[in-house]
Amino acid sequence: MSGAGISTASGIQDFRSPGSGVYDNLSKYNLPYPEAVFELEYFKKNPKPFNSWAKQFFPGVNYLPNTGHYFIKLLEEKGKLSKLFTQNIDGLERIAGIKEDKLVEAHGTFNSASCISCKEAYSIQTLKTQILEDITPTCHKCQGLIKPNIIFFGEPLPGRFFDEAEFDCMFADLLICIGTSLEVYPFAGIADVTRHTTPRILLNNDLVGSFGTRPNDSVLLGDINASIEKICDRLGWSQQILDMNNLNKPIKTCS
Ligand code: OAD
Repeated sequence: MSGAGISTASGIQDFRSPGSGVYDNLSKYNLPYPEAVFELEYFKKNPKPFNSWAKQFFPGVNYLPNTGHYFIKLLEEKGKLSKLFTQNIDGLERIAGIKEDKLVEAHGTFNSASCISCKEAYSIQTLKTQILEDITPTCHKCQGLIKPNIIFFGEPLPGRFFDEAEFDCMFADLLICIGTSLEVYPFAGIADVTRHTTPRILLNNDLVGSFGTRPNDSVLLGDINASIEKICDRLGWSQQILDMNNLNKPIKTCS
């Protein structure tokens, strides 16, 4: 399971890190409280703060996967990944090549968009163009507001999360939790669905959730990629991770 901390090495701010997190940097939008930027009821009244945040955030515009994402891809390639549950909406797991059947985007996706009123699908490419040009997209059918199909506070999580999380966690023989404060439910709860003696590993700056309270918990505090590099070194996977990182680097052209 993963959260925003896995993507900070790609240059994307997480939500709650003091000072650098998204919620500490929204003062220009005059929000009543930071989380309002991702609240459905607030978006209906004022879509501009979210659209303006989305402008710099749109997947594939500014960011690429990093070692953390490739580590999960490598687990998949080696037949070790039963499922990745991510809270992230940056799409970097897809760009890293993790297959859709192994990926549950529990807080939705920027891959598609729809009207918040009549639910009519809307072209994500059109939405992206409009957001990049500071135009507020509206529905061709009912004039309702359009947003990417990411989950806002006040919206239910995708059915696949509820269909698969409990089963996958119950029968997992190892749970790895990467880069999340485990503050947002129901997502955070899946860490505790594993059996009491199932080994769990936390890779994060801080100790979060119930990690450290079970007999087979391991906690690697500090920078995620530094920990992953150590794990890969022990597994003999370092060269493969390096190759994956290099493969997806933007090609520099000479002028
Ligand atoms: P948070 O910002 O709440 O937590 C990120 C965690 O990653 C924190 O514990 C950081 O200390 C840690 N972290 C960040 N960079 C790190 C690094 N390089 N190495 C080690 N640790 C690092 O993000 P999430 O838990 O993903 O929901 O937030 C959960 C949900 O809250 C999001 O999906 C979003 C947000 O509101 C919605 O928008 C619905």
